Amino acid sequence: DCVRVFAPATSANFICGYDILGLALEDPGDEITLRKVDSPGIKITKITGDLGLLPLDPEKNTVSASIKMVLDHLRIKNIGLEIELFKKMPIGSGLGSSAASTIAGLFAINQLLGAPLTKQELLPFALKGEELACGHGHADNVAPSLLGGITLIHSYSPLHVINLPVPKKLCCSIIFPHVEVPTRAARKILKTQTELKNAVSQWGNIAGLVTGLFTEDYNLISSSLKDYIIEPTRSFLIPEFEEMRNIAIKSGALGFGISGSGPSVVAFTQGIEKAKEITKMLKQHLGKKSIESNGYSSAI
Ligand code: HSE
Repeated sequence: DCVRVFAPATSANFICGYDILGLALEDPGDEITLRKVDSPGIKITKITGDLGLLPLDPEKNTVSASIKMVLDHLRIKNIGLEIELFKKMPIGSGLGSSAASTIAGLFAINQLLGAPLTKQELLPFALKGEELACGHGHADNVAPSLLGGITLIHSYSPLHVINLPVPKKLCCSIIFPHVEVPTRAARKILKTQTELKNAVSQWGNIAGLVTGLFTEDYNLISSSLKDYIIEPTRSFLIPEFEEMRNIAIKSGALGFGISGSGPSVVAFTQGIEKAKEITKMLKQHLGKKSIESNGYSSAI
């Protein structure tokens, strides 16, 4: 009557695919222990690694709130649950922190109940969790955290998610500069209109990237990893953004951009060695400017 679940961090947008593309990272990831107990009600008994930032109130915490939605949907009443949440990544970092915790919780409750729902059926509850966490129910973190690999949100209404192929050598380096950029704020500043020529370039890139993933064409992937619409508005929130891009691209990255809504940045590479090299260089660069940084080199 107890399950422990790991859900991976994710990098949303894949540079050109705002709100529709995302990928799961090998590490880090959040963990949850969910235990059935006799006294009814949902309790969060422990949270570690959140620097005291997350609410223990089960109504406000996205993990317990999404578990409650599943219980309501399945008309399960009077169940007693205790949740322990072990956060293994910084909050508001651009690594899908809230999504990983929500997915771990949803997967855990489904397992504890004997898996009445499919993974696809769990997704709408995860979207509601994201809405609670940052004001908008985007699926590009929760989908890859739940389904793994690279995911495409083909449609939001109705929700239709597709797993895309992952080229064998595709890796990434993610660097987290220690500034806070909450997703809610990073979405608010975005323009609601774009020039047609930018839209044309962007959808050309999305199609090019997806084709590159299917054909394992690293040149095509590389030339598609540009963002004409979101990055120009958001990148000023991230210190040293252009400098970091220059370092990554000069060192042979396939592409560079913002991970999710930032402040983490991501450099895509062919091979883990290149990712590690870029992680080291970017860390060194930020270190010199005395910004604390964490580097993750991850296979997807
Ligand atoms: N697609 C979302 C955004 C991801 O860019 O705001 C947030 O993690």
